[in-house]
Order: sequence, then C-alpha cells, then structure tokens
Amino acid sequence: MTIQPDRLYLDHAATTPIDPAVAEAMAPFVSSGEQFGNPSSLHRWGKLARKAMGQARETLAECLNTTPEEWVFTSGGTEANNLAILGLAHTLAPKGKHIIVSAIEHSAVTNPAKYLQAMGWEVTFLPVTADGVVELDTLQAACRPDTVLVSVMHGNNEVGSIQPIQAMGQLLQARGIAFHTDAVQTAGKLPINLADLAVDYLSISSHKLYGPKGGGALFVRASAPKPSPLLFGGGQEEKLRSGTENVATCVGLAEALRLCQDKLATETPRLRALQAQWLEQLPKAIPTAVLNGPALAEHRVPGNLNFSFPPIEGEALVLNLDLKGIGVSSGSACHTGKIEPSHVVMALGRSVPEGRSTIRFSLGRASTQAHLTRVLDVLPAIVDRLTPKKAGPIQ
Ligand SMILES: Cc1ncc(COP(=O)(O)O)c(C=O)c1O
Repeated sequence: MTIQPDRLYLDHAATTPIDPAVAEAMAPFVSSGEQFGNPSSLHRWGKLARKAMGQARETLAECLNTTPEEWVFTSGGTEANNLAILGLAHTLAPKGKHIIVSAIEHSAVTNPAKYLQAMGWEVTFLPVTADGVVELDTLQAACRPDTVLVSVMHGNNEVGSIQPIQAMGQLLQARGIAFHTDAVQTAGKLPINLADLAVDYLSISSHKLYGPKGGGALFVRASAPKPSPLLFGGGQEEKLRSGTENVATCVGLAEALRLCQDKLATETPRLRALQAQWLEQLPKAIPTAVLNGPALAEHRVPGNLNFSFPPIEGEALVLNLDLKGIGVSSGSACHTGKIEPSHVVMALGRSVPEGRSTIRFSLGRASTQAHLTRVLDVLPAIVDRLTPKKAGPIQ
C-alpha cells in the first residue's frame, strides 16, 4: 500500500488503495489459470467458481455474524442501496407508500428516494442536530401508519456523525417498519454484529475497505421481506441480482472485510487518536476553521474530519492542497459552473458560505501523526492567501 512518499493521500472515505493481500486473494480469478469459470456452470470450472463464491459469502457471514444466505453481492454500495430502497418499495407498496430517510444520506439513498417521490410516494427527509445526528423523537414523530421503510446511514461520509441505529431499529421493530442502514463508511471500521443489531438490511462497499472497486453487498435478514430485484435475467443471487457473478471482486470484498475485522481492535483506536489530534490542533493553527460534525473523535466515523473555511470555496482548497501533493475532498460540488453547498453541511444548519467551503480529510491505514504536521505546514498559508482581505485605509 505505497503512496508516493512526497504525496499524501487523505481521502480514504472516497476510496482506499487495495490491500496487497486482497490483490493476492483475487489474483487466481483474474489470471489465466483454472479459476475463470462461471459459477452457474455444472463442470469443474463452474464448481471452482461456485466454491469461491460460497467461501466469500461465508466470510461476510463470519465477519458480521449472519448466515451466508443473508448476503446479496452487488456492484457496490450504490447498487446495494438502490436494491434496498427501490426493491423494498416495490415489495412493500401494498402496505403503504411512505418512506423516511435522513437529510444527510449519500446520494445513493437520497436519489432513489427522490425517484420514488417522483413516482408518487411520500418521502420524509429527517432533519438532524447541529452535529449531524437524527434524534429518536424526530424519527418517532415522522413514523405514520403507512410508513413501510426507513433508511438512515450508520456513519456519515462527509461529517462523520454516527447514528444511534440500534435504538432506531428497536423503535421501528416495535412498529413493524422495515429498517435499512447504509454502512458503507463504517463496515470494517466499527464493530458490527448483525446478530444483535436491530436492522433488517445493511449495505457495504468493497473499495472503502481496501478492496476492489465495483463490489459490494446487501445484507437481507432472513426474517425480513425480500426486496424485489432491480435486475432480471438468469436469476443469480437467489433471483435478487441476476447477472454472472464478478467472482474476483466478491473474493476481494470478503478478504478485504476479513482483514479489516482482524485489524479493527488496533486500527480503530489508532485512527481515533490521530483524529483527536487533528480536532485539537487544526483549529488552533487556523482559527477561522469551523468544525462540521461531532467534536469528539469517538462520535465520528474513524478517520473522518471535516472543516469549513469560509468564505473560501472548498474546491479551491482541494486544488491548492493537490498542488502541494495532498489529496482531500470537498463536500461542495460544481454543477454547471456554480458551486453548490454540501447538502449534508447545510442540514447541520450551517450558512451557505460554510456549506461551500468544506474540506474533508479522511485518514486511513497509511496515515500518521507526521501527516497532520505536513498539512499544518501548508494549509494556514493557503487559507490566508485565499481569504479576501478587507480593504485598508488609503495611505
Ligand atoms: C455512505 C456511502 N454510501 C454509498 C456510497 C456508494 O458506494 P459505491 O461507491 O460502492 O457505489 C458511498 C461512496 O462514497 C458512501 O460514502
């Protein structure tokens, strides 16, 4: 996992480099040996591929304490979320046509929800606290007799807030409402025990946890209603996701998750300790920085940091840091030449300039204390240079 020594990758929430051990596990399935079979074939090649798929499913089950049959492999977090939201909407429509999602979901939940809205569903976008947390009372008040599904993410990808999903799940269970959580940013970083967690559906993505891109999975609890498929064809994945399986990627996802679980007890506290240093030192070095999300590292997704530097546009900061060899993200996005503020940061009650000026640093396995020093060596000067100066008196 070597990033050029003069470059600093601080964007692990966008994607992670592949763990060499994951690449090694995938290698037989992307080389010219015998492991190229179609898992649906009856012959030896098919059996080998089927066995690999079965092992990958078992690994997911062992890591997150489920049965192997409760996993549907997908092409990533986006597809897992779409399968949950749109697939369940189709299944559950006869019971009611109201769904609830939080205001700070990833677009892979928000946009399927908006699509349902356009199709005549009612959608409630739950407000969050200034720290980016959905309160139980808010959820409770939003539930209606025709509410059939709630989707609230486990940990937010921008501001790192962690939601009380266990308490939410218990509340929803008592009301017979299906509950999905997007755990793309938390799987492999926070302990998740699905045997005890009150969620019916949970999405994960491979490339956020040192696995290959284009892989993910949706947990579908055996006792919960099945989503209707979005893809029709050969009936793979118990008819929930037709299409010849991407065996190498499924193997990679499973191995990546297994390795993350192995490292979790050491890596998560290490990231939290680093995060705490950033939370303390960055605002001291740059007093105009505004923290987005919870103040305590323990309340954030491990490794996540998010600050606004108003009135500077986030994209300008990203580009200037890139010139210094440092890779970070901005929550704002440029749409047709206009900088749109981050919908997540706006949902925390921030101003438009604050929403346009966010920077997310996301630390990972390669991150060290020295990286903070390096950022603090360059960022204050960048912020100072990009901050418009008030005109002084004419001399
Ligand atoms: C919270 C969250 N959900 C879903 C996704 C989409 O996952 P994928 O890139 O695997 O489609 C992302 C990716 O950024 C994410 O951060």
